[in-house]
Amino acid sequence: MAKIIDGKLVSASIRASVADEVKALRENGICPTLAVILVGDDPASAVYVRNKQKACIETGIEPIQITLPKETTESELLSKIDELNRDSKIHGILVQLPLPEHISEEKVISKINPEKDVDAFTHESVGRIVEGKYSFLPCTPAGIMKLLEYYEIDVAGKECVVIGRSNIVGKPMALLLLNASGTVTVCHSKTKNLSEVTKRADILIVAVGKAKFVTADMVKEGAVVVDVGINRMPDGKLAGDVDFDSVSSVASLLTPVPGGVGPMTIAMLMCNTVFAAKRAHNNKKA
Ligand code: GUN
Repeated sequence: MAKIIDGKLVSASIRASVADEVKALRENGICPTLAVILVGDDPASAVYVRNKQKACIETGIEPIQITLPKETTESELLSKIDELNRDSKIHGILVQLPLPEHISEEKVISKINPEKDVDAFTHESVGRIVEGKYSFLPCTPAGIMKLLEYYEIDVAGKECVVIGRSNIVGKPMALLLLNASGTVTVCHSKTKNLSEVTKRADILIVAVGKAKFVTADMVKEGAVVVDVGINRMPDGKLAGDVDFDSVSSVASLLTPVPGGVGPMTIAMLMCNTVFAAKRAHNNKKA
């Protein structure tokens, strides 16, 4: 049976050290502040945003919650971001995705000042990730790297397979694994003989958005399997992209859903916000 990778435990220890850092910053008059913008009423997004807000409060970060109606125009949203860009009290800006269809995500992300880009979604942040010269770490992939580190899984030289090529997870995940000297393959909907590829993986990262997509026959004996998916099942329960029950009989280590990657994403967001606050303060001094 696979050992469980406990994202709750690891994320709690990261949040505790963020809280210590925030306390010290506040004693020096710096109050790390994160603005989170939610447009529309997507219920899943509302839950994610609430969890981000809770983590801010727990770590002492000041959350600024901006909720806009789904009819908000693109130019209204861009003006709001502009206002937050110019506000020196705001250190991080996060626009929850997806946005309503009439708003261009690319335009909105490009508007965020890269110095406040705590999601690491702007062209500047992505370029830095490609070069391995991080300022902000992409939250979900960075959270996964922390889990691998915590469980002493050395990526160097390992066969790493990522299923999914999104800009948020798949692509930056592949880059972080590559920067850690893994041998990386990215699979997607057009990949032929998917299970032949996934069976090569020592480390398998699954981010496809389809419940229980990866089954035991797709996994090598002893592989480390990381499940990024969060899918709501007809019975209301959450399930990952990995068929947990069958895969746990072949994997050596496996993340659960919930309680695996999800809490790590939020913990890394808190780290990025503190980093942004410290850098803004140091730039002011210089
Ligand atoms: N929607 C789903 N995941 C994310 C994320 O990590 N950041 C933002 N801004 N939106 C998301």
